[in-house]
Amino acid sequence: MKTLRDRAAWLRGGNAVCNVPAPELERPLRLILLGAPGVGKGTQAELITSGFACCQLSTGDVFRAASSADRGGCAGFEPSPAMADALGYMRRGELVPDQTVLNLVGERVNCLRCRGGFLLDGFPRTVAQAEALDKILEREKLKLDAVISYDLPIEEVVARASGRRTCSKCKTVYHLTAHPPAKEGICDKCGGALYQREDDKPETIRVRQETYARSTAPLIEYYGRKGLLISISAEGVPGAIFARTLDALAARLLPPEEEPQK
Ligand code: AP5
Repeated sequence: MKTLRDRAAWLRGGNAVCNVPAPELERPLRLILLGAPGVGKGTQAELITSGFACCQLSTGDVFRAASSADRGGCAGFEPSPAMADALGYMRRGELVPDQTVLNLVGERVNCLRCRGGFLLDGFPRTVAQAEALDKILEREKLKLDAVISYDLPIEEVVARASGRRTCSKCKTVYHLTAHPPAKEGICDKCGGALYQREDDKPETIRVRQETYARSTAPLIEYYGRKGLLISISAEGVPGAIFARTLDALAARLLPPEEEPQK
């Protein structure tokens, strides 16, 4: 049976250690995922990390872990004042201030150094964050392989986010119509109750889309200029999008096949 990686070093920060150590790779994969809130980045991150050794480093997940600790869901894990402040921004669908996010990432640089590689999901989200990440990577002598941007018409993105339901226990993500659980409101994997994220309510989804267009979409140009951008259509089922992602990564990372000798 596959052992689930708990991402403790990322989610908890500090001296936390992951339950399953990353394999030592000669060529670890280092990626960033971009795309509007609800486009399906988390779904693709799960598929990518199940095929590669890299870990999904989601800033949203760190804030949500702090939020469930806040509600008594995680013993011994107290959110700092800055983290508690961040939860207010999330509830309103706004971006958490850059400095709070950069402190959070700064406390977790070990995860960027991870010998299994990394898959950044939800960071960077502003040009200032991208510039700060560039400095960290330069200092650590680490290179990004690619920045994958998922594209989907806005109405479909909103439909994905508004139909999302998440397991309160194991955090598995479902969709009311595209990926429903076998029994309504109950997680197939652990029997936990499903809930709707606070920031998936219609009024908050609108704010998040506007924030994305204003603050995060400029990163597409930023990474395009650096020659790192791969744009992928997020239409269709997750498996089809994953297949397009793998094809695009292979075209980017594998050396071109040599012409056969005549
Ligand atoms: P974060 O957690 O990063 O959320 P997000 O970017 O808004 O992305 P989502 O998790 O909402 O969606 P997703 O693209 O991962 O979609 P998913 O795979 O779940 O950030 C949350 C908040 O934290 C931010 O708003 C901000 O306040 C704060 N924050 C985080 N990072 C920050 C930063 N760096 N700076 C400042 N603030 C920061 O899929 C969505 C649904 O669609 C699911 O139900 C899924 O089952 C379904 N689905 C997926 N793929 C498909 C498909 N192909 N077809 C049909 N349905 C699909």
